[in-house]
Amino acid sequence: MHKIHRMNRPCCVIFVTLQAEIIPFLMTEFEMIAKTFQGLEEILAKELIDLGANGVAIGNRMVSFKGDKALMYKANFQLRTAIRILKPFLHFKADSADEVYEICRKVEWEKYMDLSDSFAVDSVVYSEDFRHSKFVAYRVKDAIADYFRDKYGKRPNVSVANPDLTFHIHISHDDCSLSLDSSGESLHKRGYRQEAMEAPLNEVLAAGMILMSGWDGKSDFVDPMCGSGTIPIEAALIAKNMAPGLFRSHFAFEKWKDFDRDLFEQIYNDDSAEREFEFTIKGYDKDPKAILTAKRNAKAAGLLDTIHFEQRDFKDFEPVKERTVIITNPPYGERLTDDNLLGLYEMIGERLKHALIGGEAWIISYHYECFDKIGLKPSAKIPLFNGALPCELRKYEIFDGRYNDFRGGDRRLKKDDLPTRRSSTLRHKARLAEKEAERKTGFAENPEKTEKTEFRRERPARKTSERKPFRKDGEKSFRKTEGTKSFHKDGDRSFRKTEGGKPFRKSSSEGKTFKKSEGKPFRKSSQSKPFSKSTSRPAAKKGFKKQ
Ligand SMILES: C[S@@+](CC[C@H](N)C(=O)[O-])C[C@H]1O[C@@H](n2cnc3c(N)ncnc32)[C@H](O)[C@@H]1O
Repeated sequence: MHKIHRMNRPCCVIFVTLQAEIIPFLMTEFEMIAKTFQGLEEILAKELIDLGANGVAIGNRMVSFKGDKALMYKANFQLRTAIRILKPFLHFKADSADEVYEICRKVEWEKYMDLSDSFAVDSVVYSEDFRHSKFVAYRVKDAIADYFRDKYGKRPNVSVANPDLTFHIHISHDDCSLSLDSSGESLHKRGYRQEAMEAPLNEVLAAGMILMSGWDGKSDFVDPMCGSGTIPIEAALIAKNMAPGLFRSHFAFEKWKDFDRDLFEQIYNDDSAEREFEFTIKGYDKDPKAILTAKRNAKAAGLLDTIHFEQRDFKDFEPVKERTVIITNPPYGERLTDDNLLGLYEMIGERLKHALIGGEAWIISYHYECFDKIGLKPSAKIPLFNGALPCELRKYEIFDGRYNDFRGGDRRLKKDDLPTRRSSTLRHKARLAEKEAERKTGFAENPEKTEKTEFRRERPARKTSERKPFRKDGEKSFRKTEGTKSFHKDGDRSFRKTEGGKPFRKSSSEGKTFKKSEGKPFRKSSQSKPFSKSTSRPAAKKGFKKQ
């Protein structure tokens, strides 16, 4: 007895101490949802793990995770492949809009907003029972308004253009979740874009492509058809490990009741992870207007000295001297009527073969016929959506040898190189499958497709002139003009296997969870083991789970 008592006592002391120290810390963790584009879920999960997130689980166009307030701020500020960070605060079951209204009437809304705050409600619905997502959003809005009117005799304003708070109702079948949107404007709106040319690539997609390629700033980089410069600018941010949120003047969480200004300033002003970049980034385009636009955008990001922009036709692309990575987004359009388009891709293949020896090129395009014209064998094919278009990102490694050796003496691609030939039937099927996946899992976000309520605002892009150069004490908005900062960890950015010509299928990772300590990130949620050191709830298999 005595012995046991003596042995137990220190254990009890340790246990009590740990409880006192760890439990309050655990209690500060909460569930979050990072939304993204289809095909970028795994790279976003990797980013979240690098950021220190717990319980990272992949869904359809979303990754769920847990973390504290600091992590929520960092997620908004530092993630390159997230569109939006939601903080769910209520999960319930309902099978009609009236039922949603009744439940929402009972929420203590003062926890989240004051009577003087304006608000908006966003909705995404995948349910037979809720045919009109707008109507559900209206009912949530009514519930909030009626709650305040009953209690205080007044109701808060709904703001279309610039709400203080945006709530998000998500319904899948009869599973409903209410969240606060911590981002506000989509995170692809970095704040550096001054102007766009036709068909600019979404910044989140551009960053996702670069991260997937594994390029980490340790070699030269070129986008020979750079348009408004999105890919070179995102590449420069990655190379210098600068946070993509540096140029935004606002995140929605800054208007939340519990906003911790000191904490955010600390995150914002920490540039310790930034690094020097010793190689070159070049952006070319045959259109002089594109080059002007790209330069303006790069200047707004403070990266004009880092990127060399020049008007140049890809046909004049000169052989590279050092190992170089090309990532580019040539024109593709939806219709393949233009012979010149196919000629362009033929020229691209010819230039890669002769001018990129020892390097690699990553090309995103839409039509199989265009890829075919490149005439090189891809070593990876990654399905991605560019807006509503089902595209593919292909990797070409250019070896120092005869072209025919590289293609095995056969200029035509073999049949099994072509899993994603996009006939209209296949495209249609892909869209149907996509819709079904959305219906089942939800939290999808595709700006072109997601239905918004009419009181959901689209803010105009901010001008750089609106940005303050540096956040000072007591000042609402920010930033140093130089010496910018980021928390993105250095290291291997691309954990996907891209070699060997195997396509990069989203379905292979959906519903799997990640563990920080493992090199291999996956564990099936069905194994129901704890999936992070500080959470007790197994990861949601798809979407996020009800509590
Ligand atoms: C789809 S846009 C690229 C958009 C760009 N990623 C952005 O975010 O703005 C394709 C670009 O290729 C350029 N282009 C077309 N043919 C070209 C060629 N032969 N050489 C160089 N650029 C070319 C066009 O001028 C256009 O800016």
